[in-house]
Amino acid sequence: MSLTTTNLDGILPLIAKGKVRDIYQVDEESLLFVATDRISAYDVIMENGIKDKGKILTQLSVFWFDLLKDTIKNHLIASTDDEVFARLPQELSQPKYKSQLSGRALVVRKHKLIPLEVIVRGYITGSAWKEYNKSKTVHGLEVGAELKESQEFPVPIFTPSTKAEQGEHDENISPEKAAEIVGEQLCARLAEKAVQLYSKARTYAKSKGIILADTKFEFGIDENDELVLVDEVLTPDSSRFWDAKTYKIGQSQDSYDKQFLRDWLTSNGLNGKDGVSMTAEIAERTGAKYVEAFESLTGRKWT
Ligand SMILES: Nc1ncnc2c1ncn2[C@@H]1O[C@H](COP(=O)(O)OP(=O)(O)OP(=O)(O)O)[C@@H](O)[C@H]1O
Ligand SMILES: [Mg+2]
Repeated sequence: MSLTTTNLDGILPLIAKGKVRDIYQVDEESLLFVATDRISAYDVIMENGIKDKGKILTQLSVFWFDLLKDTIKNHLIASTDDEVFARLPQELSQPKYKSQLSGRALVVRKHKLIPLEVIVRGYITGSAWKEYNKSKTVHGLEVGAELKESQEFPVPIFTPSTKAEQGEHDENISPEKAAEIVGEQLCARLAEKAVQLYSKARTYAKSKGIILADTKFEFGIDENDELVLVDEVLTPDSSRFWDAKTYKIGQSQDSYDKQFLRDWLTSNGLNGKDGVSMTAEIAERTGAKYVEAFESLTGRKWT
């Protein structure tokens, strides 16, 4: 069974529903961050979910937060079930709620978010490849090299986008434009930190047979003016993972996790359509890719 929505009967106020997460207010300082099994493709959420996807995303994020904890502070307050339930109203330990939250819920510190999608790209693909083809630039930047599709950049680059309101599209912007939004100093700190995090993660992933083509971070700022890593980190939903075994320069790469789903949607003329249910086979094969990503990256068995 998969969980596509949570229902806590108003025990905690639901404050937001993202594409994947249901977010509840715990108290003034903290949020309950629940990753459901919802999956989107071509910007549309499927009717049914992918078994365990939310749990895998949650555990993978926790893994990365830990791996990166010497490089940056993060928003985690409670990350194991024991720690999480200890911070929630007693009623939520009843089976009907516990079954919705176990393994997929985190208590996180509520932060004022920096209004940017802090993207770092190590390889040229997607919207960056499209722009490069038109103008030889990426987010308005000169790249300083002739590149083929999916080729590695000489160095990883900070390529921010706006954080659009729900239902709107994020827009690629230049670092200069980002500096206008958040201020020059903060923008420089974000760029430096993000590239550092990406580089560390990429080296690690490479050693596990996965190419981290690009990724999106979100940051908050704490009361001491320190950057804090928030949201989810380095999951298949926030990153492009490629299988190092099948990687080839000069062409687009299959998506590690969503390729079956995208191919199935396009071949059935369903891409971009609302209200689509995946077949059991597509849901299962997609789920297997999330498990594979988790197991390859963490070296742990998914149980
Ligand atoms: N520590 C935090 N404090 C406040 N908000 C946070 C924190 N960490 C993450 N968020 C926000 O919680 C939401 C996560 O939900 P989810 O990933 O489902 O949303 P999304 O679909 O990616 O984004 P959106 O809701 O903006 O379309 C994001 O809007 C993210 O910016
Ligand atoms: Mg998100």
